[in-house]
Amino acid sequence: PNERLDVLKSVILRGIPASNKDNLILASGLSYHTIIKWGDTINDTDTFGFNNDFTCFIPFDDNNPNDGLLWVNHEYVNPLFVSNFDANKYKNPSLHKTKDQVDKEMYNVGGTIVRIKEENGLWSIVKNDHRNRRITAKTTIKLNWDTPIKGKSTVVGTLANCSGGITPWKTFITCEENYDGFFGETIYNEENIPKHIPSHAYGWEQFYNYPPEHYGWVVEVNPKDGSAQKHIALGRFAHECCTLYELEDKRVVAYTGDDKNNEHLYKFVSSKPGSLKDGTLYVANTIKGKWLPLDWASQPLLKNKFKDQTEVLIRAREAAKIIGATPLNRPEDIEIDPITGNIFVTLTNNKPKNDFHGSILKIEETNGAFDALTFKAVTYKAGGEANGFSCPDNLAFDLSGNLWMTSDMSGNVMNKKDKPYFPFKNNSLFVIPRYGKDAGKVIRVASAPRDAELTGPWFSPDGKTLFLSVQHPGEETKDIKNPTSTWPFDKDNIPKSAVVAIKGNLIEKMNKLDKIEN
Ligand code: FEO
Ligand code: CA
Ligand code: CA
Ligand code: CA
Repeated sequence: PNERLDVLKSVILRGIPASNKDNLILASGLSYHTIIKWGDTINDTDTFGFNNDFTCFIPFDDNNPNDGLLWVNHEYVNPLFVSNFDANKYKNPSLHKTKDQVDKEMYNVGGTIVRIKEENGLWSIVKNDHRNRRITAKTTIKLNWDTPIKGKSTVVGTLANCSGGITPWKTFITCEENYDGFFGETIYNEENIPKHIPSHAYGWEQFYNYPPEHYGWVVEVNPKDGSAQKHIALGRFAHECCTLYELEDKRVVAYTGDDKNNEHLYKFVSSKPGSLKDGTLYVANTIKGKWLPLDWASQPLLKNKFKDQTEVLIRAREAAKIIGATPLNRPEDIEIDPITGNIFVTLTNNKPKNDFHGSILKIEETNGAFDALTFKAVTYKAGGEANGFSCPDNLAFDLSGNLWMTSDMSGNVMNKKDKPYFPFKNNSLFVIPRYGKDAGKVIRVASAPRDAELTGPWFSPDGKTLFLSVQHPGEETKDIKNPTSTWPFDKDNIPKSAVVAIKGNLIEKMNKLDKIEN
């Protein structure tokens, strides 16, 4: 521990103040370079999608941390930039798009697999590598389930890909979050009669009418060939992320949250090794500290309402409420503390309940067993001016167990209606050191360009690089000739989401506190 403290003393832990400058501003000793941005070509036919969010890197060889595949989510599109569609011109914008515009937008969501390599401290993409590919809203994807859903065992596309994870068998996980904005949603009245609620956000339904039930799932992508499957057993809702843990007997535990006001936190425990199909989905009652099984066969309350387990999983939100799940303030990212095994869940906010700043929830499973059915939940840290952050979103532990966190106050906080957010200025990246005099403090180390959100923090295997997404700079632009941000400062002045590599003393030293005795 003393050694660790000595290293820490040599780390400049001076944070940066909140800023509303249109730039990616980093703490002293850090620098960044852009790896890939919206529109960059990755091979002869494909380009990098819009609004990159989750990032994750898997090296080809564990002994070479500098060459491998990067997975990046593309969450949603801004039509003004992607399809040159100006929604402000129309009363009912979704009725005025052309099929060509919709197709462009469908291409720009989903995800990207791209080989990246580090040479002389600089990461760059390996163009035309045979593994480079796009997954889009039109890619054919299998359902990992025995019962067809809306008559299908394969579906068209993935969308609303927010955060994600990695499996113990080294495949990518991407989560479909606000899916209802694309092909609408099916709602049920008191008599249990379904009704389709169309989405007006993008107008895709004018040309394509895929069932909403085909979206809102956890999706697994195989890096080798880009084949993908949706894991029905993990339930359907606005999945922010999915964080997996492999038990000693190779069964899998998956934590996943529903990012919507008053929705829930879930955990899947597999009954077979390496399966994301066979097992039980639980939902949390955080007051009683209980994981409640969303199991049709053993729950009379669910049998009364739903016709089978498939329907329980499709309508997981309703099922969760029936069996007594605790409503939470928008669960976002989830990470497992590599040292204590505690589970950290960001609760980003719940404005109607006057929770403007959110908090980080800590879950301690009973006896530290990830398949336990009871747990203790406490608030680890509350957002607000006292702790210097608001609206926590993504989390990442580094190699030493320091916790890194991004914020998502959504849009430009200098907008008048968002008064509680004024002091926080632009969205940021923070670190919460584990050791030393600043242990437990929330220190701002990066500030995002205007209207942007920093997402997808992911450390390279050697702990020398922090991959980070800069998502939706200039999102509030009304006139494309006068964008609210011009980051990353290309000649065309168009703001572009991009994945950057952050390097420097602070990151290397924080990660080097490592070699922790477990
Ligand atoms: Fe897409 Fe919950 O953030
Ligand atoms: Ca986002
Ligand atoms: Ca998010
Ligand atoms: Ca968010």
